[in-house]
Amino acid sequence: MKPEELVQLAKDARARSYVPYSGFAVGAALLCKDGKIYQGCNIENAAFGPTICAERVAVFKAVYDGEREFEAIAVAGGRAGEDITGLFPPCGVCRQVLREFCDLDFMLYLAKENGEYEARSLGEMLPMSFSGADMK
Ligand code: THU
Repeated sequence: MKPEELVQLAKDARARSYVPYSGFAVGAALLCKDGKIYQGCNIENAAFGPTICAERVAVFKAVYDGEREFEAIAVAGGRAGEDITGLFPPCGVCRQVLREFCDLDFMLYLAKENGEYEARSLGEMLPMSFSGADMK
């Protein structure tokens, strides 16, 4: 799967976002090492705190299905109902959740306008990260 295709699947997932409070739709597409893909969208809540990000929906769907090895994720965010207008960087909580299951060479494709994207490794996005290996 080419990064461009994963980016398009992340953009497509934005259509499923439930965002009555922020009006900001985020989509994610997670590529497993076995080739399967899991999409996610953000799902908001009137109490705000229970809101979940698109990236974590994708990861949790995959882990529930028995997936534990991941290659890359694409993310896209912007005003709901509109095309994205710029790069969307995943929040710190989602970076940490990715770190639980992914090595530092796991790739993130951050969608930009016109089908463009920026590629960053998890090591770049979450330097000096804490993981289970640090609990010795
Ligand atoms: N959001 C995500 O889906 N992913 C992130 O990495 C950061 C933020 C969502 C949560 C909320 O529904 C909206 O974007 C505005 O914060």
